[in-house]
Amino acid sequence: MSSEGKTWVRMVTAQTPTNIAVIKYWGKRDETLILPINDSISVTLDPNHLCTTTTVAVSPSFDSDRMWLNGKEISLSGGRFQSCLREIRSRACDFEDKEKGIKITKKDWEKLHLHIASFNNFPTAAGLASSAAGLACLVFSLAKLMNVKEDESQLSAIARQGSGSACRSLFGGFVKWIMGKDKDGSDSLAVQLADEKHWDDLVIIIAVVSSRQKETSSTSGMRESVETSLLLKYRAEEVVPKRIVKMEEAIKNRDFASFAQLTCADSNQFHATCLDTSPPIFYMNDTSHRIISLVEKWNRSEGTPQVAYTFDAGPNAVLIARDRKTATQLLQRLLFFFPPNSDTDLNSYVIGDKSILKDAGIESIKDMESLPPPLEMKDANKFSGGDVNYFICTKPGKGPVLLADQTQALLKLLIVTYILHKKFSFEMLTILFAQNLFFNLKQVVVYGKAQISCREITTSLV
Ligand code: DP6
Repeated sequence: MSSEGKTWVRMVTAQTPTNIAVIKYWGKRDETLILPINDSISVTLDPNHLCTTTTVAVSPSFDSDRMWLNGKEISLSGGRFQSCLREIRSRACDFEDKEKGIKITKKDWEKLHLHIASFNNFPTAAGLASSAAGLACLVFSLAKLMNVKEDESQLSAIARQGSGSACRSLFGGFVKWIMGKDKDGSDSLAVQLADEKHWDDLVIIIAVVSSRQKETSSTSGMRESVETSLLLKYRAEEVVPKRIVKMEEAIKNRDFASFAQLTCADSNQFHATCLDTSPPIFYMNDTSHRIISLVEKWNRSEGTPQVAYTFDAGPNAVLIARDRKTATQLLQRLLFFFPPNSDTDLNSYVIGDKSILKDAGIESIKDMESLPPPLEMKDANKFSGGDVNYFICTKPGKGPVLLADQTQALLKLLIVTYILHKKFSFEMLTILFAQNLFFNLKQVVVYGKAQISCREITTSLV
């Protein structure tokens, strides 16, 4: 390990999307290696609206591995983190940056410590697969930092050991996690079925549903289902293999009717499997059921599916509309039946791609209140405000990317830390000092959107 003085810091920042399964992974055949009992297929969501950004840094001045999530330090001692770190370190290669006087050999990586700062651009506790994006981003950014030569599929087999669904976030578009057969899990990895441009008509609206009860985690829920549900056994052995073939075909042919039918049926069967678990697990709530019924009635009245729904281990609905026109009609229906609380403004009730709101002709709460009931449900009543926390309008998106401009990436991290805790993380400041990355006023103005005034930032720093 060479350097002039031991003050260098090497850093990499990456951004990784989250994903939603349309054929679900539920059940492991190996708990440590995280090997599933069936293949699964997902759609990657646009990272502009849902993603994790992670900066990984290595320096001889760091004396332990440490990690901050959304500005708060978290422990890296868990088995899953340790598996990912071990697997990546074992594949690390020599690295040299002559300009900065950094030379790291393969052996050095075993001794060098890491600092990792990660943040989500969406609420971490909202049940929106933050662990999938987070673990995928950790593995992807570490691989780039350590000059790992493996491709995305091989990296997915490492991300899988952090959280099963994370392996599918290594690609954009439509992704299949092949369950594999090998005992060591080497053939249990993700492959891209089609990129995000292949079917770019699709629009996704997520209803983040208010939930009072604490949910059973996916990890323990699926363990209980494997132990007690006969339906899960039948699903994994008989149903999913056939569905996977049909889903691949539907994606290839952009056949929305088949895609929607398979997506809804698989979500419903996954939740039926949860009910078949002993004790039963309830992830959906009344609001989720109402959303299903609204979509089913509309699809039936049109004679062909307009929208597909799918629910993970929680009450949030992920609704996939066949095209933009359908998405505007869907948003009108959703806002008619699920108005916000009286103290919520429209701007924070519909987030993400707000242009869909504009297309739907809704620019104010007043416009929303005057929405007519949909024809197929003209006698149905609106529900009281507050059943849905907010809606996110998004679309299928791209896979992980390296952020080339480190200054910008770190500035973002710093600002998020500041927003969340009203103070700067000491570690982030240390890294910035070490890299001479103190921002200039112009950059602060660029990030003025983050609602931090130049004065607040500069006075906090001095
Ligand atoms: C319902 O990947 O969170 O979202 O592998 O134990 O970390 P672990 O579970 P996780 O499970 C996701 C389950 C699901 C379906 C899916 O994403 O395929």
